[in-house]
This record gives sequence, structure tokens and C-alpha cells, in this order.
Amino acid sequence: MNMPANAAKLSVSGKRLIRRIKDLGEVGKLDNGGVNRLALTDADKAGRDLVTSWMRALGMSVSIDRIGNIIATRKGSKDLTPVMTGSHIDTVRAGGLYDGNLGVLAGLEVVETLNDAGLELDRPIQVAVFTNEEGARFAPDMLGSLVFQGGLALDEALQAVAIDGPTLSEELQRIGYAGQDECGAVKPHAYVELHIEQGPVLENKGVQIGAVTGVQGICWIEFEISGVSNHAGTTPMNMRKDPMAAMAAITHFVRQLTRRYGGHQVGTVGHCKIRPNLVNVIPNQVIFTVDIRNTDRALLDKAEAEVLAYAQEVAQQEGVTLQHKSLARFDPIAFDPAMIDRVEANARDRDCSVMRMPSGAGHDAGIIALMCPASMIFVPSVKGLSHNPAEFTHEADLVNGANILLDTIAALAQE
Ligand code: GLV
Ligand code: MN
Ligand code: MN
Repeated sequence: MNMPANAAKLSVSGKRLIRRIKDLGEVGKLDNGGVNRLALTDADKAGRDLVTSWMRALGMSVSIDRIGNIIATRKGSKDLTPVMTGSHIDTVRAGGLYDGNLGVLAGLEVVETLNDAGLELDRPIQVAVFTNEEGARFAPDMLGSLVFQGGLALDEALQAVAIDGPTLSEELQRIGYAGQDECGAVKPHAYVELHIEQGPVLENKGVQIGAVTGVQGICWIEFEISGVSNHAGTTPMNMRKDPMAAMAAITHFVRQLTRRYGGHQVGTVGHCKIRPNLVNVIPNQVIFTVDIRNTDRALLDKAEAEVLAYAQEVAQQEGVTLQHKSLARFDPIAFDPAMIDRVEANARDRDCSVMRMPSGAGHDAGIIALMCPASMIFVPSVKGLSHNPAEFTHEADLVNGANILLDTIAALAQE
């Protein structure tokens, strides 16, 4: 069956979408206007409870799988595989209102718009809330979608340890989201996700929509460097075994490497723990993370190898011991060309300017793309800010993105 003639003319309600974004933003709200809903904390549970209540109010059936992914389904009229959309509602410790939340809530807005119009589509529509997309509390990032897709074993994922101690399995049980349903039991017909860009490109170019071509590769390494604590005033510089000095050198090396590589190479040292973390004591241990990303797999491999080799070299020079482990490693992903074309064409149909672009951030869509045709729609982020309480996208852009999501889902659900 082709698209019902009136479906193409439907439009989402910006007011309703913003209302839900703001209401969800109240959960885990910070004084500075941002949100802290780290994965599987009490705030994440409260956010999940709110979102599932909205899903049920829209007449969707809600399933929780064994890794805690929430999958809500709007029935289709035929026995066909679903069209899936969604994202995540976990945030970084000081996140904004839009990262992830937009994808989930725009999915609900699409369903409500179709419901209001009384439109029954052939295929079911699913809205997914994937567990621990951010990877800020448990590594790796995109953990829930990765288990759903089959790229990470359920048992291994359940044993992931939070930065504050408990395992993912314990936290899922504690917040009541250790579901019983098999992960990824039904392979979607297609997946499309709306997300804020989280970078400056669309705003700088004055373009309304990004038709996302893929997601760059991600490599997360955790280093643990051990040395010898001693007195800051009495220990001669040539007698020190200072893990902090080694960490500083590695941090500088990562920055220099990004300059040497140029292009899409980025690198970040974002998390560190220092012991004993006192003004007058040479530290005896530092644990810190390096996040490096590139759209080119060979360059990412090379960057990773260089960082590891330099870390060994510097540890030797400083006389400290160094251990490292991989927290996450994703190859760059290219989205399905036909799905990218659809997003681009649907943007033009809505009279929006559109450009093709890769994603700098990791996304569940990049994982689900390994199991079915997938693509993403980006809307501009003001000042390119994200993972920051000041993250903001104008209502008109949110509505454009949600309408393009509606058109894309509605067409996919009729094939
Ligand atoms: C997730 O948001 C990531 O790109 O780190
Ligand atoms: Mn996100
Ligand atoms: Mn994020």
C-alpha cells in the first residue's frame, strides 16, 4: 500500500514536543538548567517511568528487554517487521535537554500525530529508549543498542562496572528495569533517528537539516599509572616516580597528535582520578581516559597505536608502571545510501535546506545500522554546544526535524 494521501500533509505539534522535552528535563534537573540523568541512576529510573507512562498513554505496548532497553510498539495493520526510531534518555553528568531525549520524544510525537489523524500504517512503529548510550557511567557507550544488535554479549554487558562501583546488572535490578524480553528478537525493517547535531557545522553554514552519512570511529582507552607517593617539598625532581607527570605528557601528546593528523581527528582526556589527590603529595596513582575519534578507520588505528606506544615510552622515562584497557572501540559506520537519500529528499519536501555530513558523536543509529538500513536526521545546535547544560536547539528546527522524521517513518511503514 502506498502512503495514505493525507499522511504527507500531517505535521507534528511543536508545542507538545517542547512540553515533553521540558517535562523530561525536570527529571534530574540541575540548578544551572542542565540535567544529570547518568544511566541507571534514580534520575534515569524516574525519566524511564515518565517516558513509559507517555508511551502507554499513546496506546503503545511497552517491552523491557534484558539489558533494560525500552521498546514501545504502535501496532501496524499487517504482520510485518517494524520501523524503528528512538535514541536514549541517559545523559552525561552535566548534560542538556536535547541530546538523545529529542530522538525518543520526537518518536512519541510522530506516533501521537499519526494517532490524532486516525492513520493506521501497514508496519508497526517502534520507539526505542536504549540503555546507557552515553557510556559516561558504564563503558562502552551505546551499550544497550550494541547488545540489541548482537555486537556485545548480554552477560558481558551486565557485568560492566559503573564509575561509582555497582555493576550494570545490579543497577538494572535496583531501578526495576531488568526486563525479561530477549534483546533484538525482532530485526527492524529500518531505523531512523532524529538528533541534535551537537556541533557547529549546520549553524555556521546556515543549513537547517543534516542528512547524516555515518558515524565516525571511536576509541576509548583507560590508563592506570602507578608511581610512588612522596613529599612534594623534599623529593628531588630526579628521584620522582610521578604518574601525574606521565598523564600530563600523554595528554599533551594526544593534543599534538590531533594537530599533526588534522582533518577529522579529535582527541580528549575527559576523566581522571588521582590518588591521594593532595596539594603536597606526589600522587601514587592516576587513572584517566583517552577518547580519540576519526572518520577514517586506518587513521584511527594509527592514532590508537601511537598513543599506546607513547604512553609506554613516557612510563619508562618516568619510572612508573602503566596498564591500559580498551573501554570502547567502534569502527566508522556508513549509513545506508538509500536511507540517506530519503532524509535528504524529505528535508527538501519540507522546504528545508539540507546538507550531508558525518556525525562526530556516537549514536545508537550507528549500531543499529549494522542490523538494518539506518540513517539519522540532524538539527542545528546553537553555538555547537552539547554535553553542556547550555545545549539548545530552536523550536522551529526541532519541528522541522520531527516532521522529516514523521515523513520518513510514515513512508517506510507503508512498504
Ligand atoms: C556519546 O554521546 C558520545 O559520542 O560520546
Ligand atoms: Mn546522544
Ligand atoms: Mn551524548
